[in-house]
Amino acid sequence: MSAPDPPLAVLAELTHRCPLQCPYCSNPVDLERASSELDTATWCRVLDEAAEMGVLQVHFSGGEPTVRKDLEELVRHATRGGLYSNLITAGVLLDEARIEALAAAGLEHVQLSFQDSEAANANRIGGFRGGHQKKHQVARWVRKAGLPLTVNAVVHRQNLDHLEDIIEMAVALDAERLEVAHVQYYGWALKNRAAFLPTRAQLDAATAVVAAARERLKGTLVIDYVVPDYYARWPKACMGGWGRHFLNITPAGKVLPCHAAESIPSLRFDTVAERPLAEIWAQSEAFQRFRGTDWMPELCHSCARREIDWGGCRCQAFALTGDAANTDPACQLSSLHEGVYALAEREAGAPPPAFTYRRIGGAA
Ligand code: SF4
Ligand code: FES
Repeated sequence: MSAPDPPLAVLAELTHRCPLQCPYCSNPVDLERASSELDTATWCRVLDEAAEMGVLQVHFSGGEPTVRKDLEELVRHATRGGLYSNLITAGVLLDEARIEALAAAGLEHVQLSFQDSEAANANRIGGFRGGHQKKHQVARWVRKAGLPLTVNAVVHRQNLDHLEDIIEMAVALDAERLEVAHVQYYGWALKNRAAFLPTRAQLDAATAVVAAARERLKGTLVIDYVVPDYYARWPKACMGGWGRHFLNITPAGKVLPCHAAESIPSLRFDTVAERPLAEIWAQSEAFQRFRGTDWMPELCHSCARREIDWGGCRCQAFALTGDAANTDPACQLSSLHEGVYALAEREAGAPPPAFTYRRIGGAA
């Protein structure tokens, strides 16, 4: 296989610590503790390595990246290295001075997550009292600091009926982009799937709301929309294809082809302590395993869409079939597709079970 082009972006998961406890979190079920997190100097070295490889963007994420006291230093370092830095945050730990300090350090964009447009439900889902109100304040400080804002809204059966209001909220907060993402079922979210899966009718109504809002808000708000795979006809090109554009670094320094890759037990991941980032990207076993099309089962390998969706999502194939090398059952050509669709309708039609909140140290 020829050497891959460098990745466009790195997701730097600075920590798994987070004051919120969203049951749809895509972090792994086995969270890494603060004591195993990379220190500032190591992150700075890794950012340098990323810039040298030709990476363009770094997304500082978590967990909640603002729990790291060195976030400003890391943003400054990334900026000096020529990286565009984006902060993906729940916002509740930020104050105005810190946002200004991050902007001064070179931060270029903020993605702020909201759990709903309605405060009581938002705070129930996030498991954090007063969080929703604080996020509104944070959004105003972000815009006051001159930073562009994206509102991230994860949607599901327990907030989908508020989608119109969520869109209006994003407009009122002066966001330039709204990401409406149906829950993707990895990590904690997979544990809570039955609490979140919408019915097909709910999904269709939401899709119509998004289509109308996109038309109405042209030039005001860009709306990205991610549908739940279980009702899709074709799978998404997860991560733009395994090992093609993105890499993910965990708080302890493991380098993953996607944020959920640790859910595939057969994969072994190199760490930034063991090998240079460029070498891991080009040669590590985990990146090679599903890169390109050679690994594909016959159904995908002979399919005209194989370089459109790259066989879908490996983590989902594993979660639903027990083998990450299978065709993603979100694909209508998969023999398992109908069964997954039926499972979704069955779970969505039953009363939602209580949440298993995401907490470091174990389930609720
Ligand atoms: Fe994509 Fe494979 Fe389905 Fe073809 S068969 S559409 S490559 S997942
Ligand atoms: Fe891992 Fe899709 S989430 S490949």
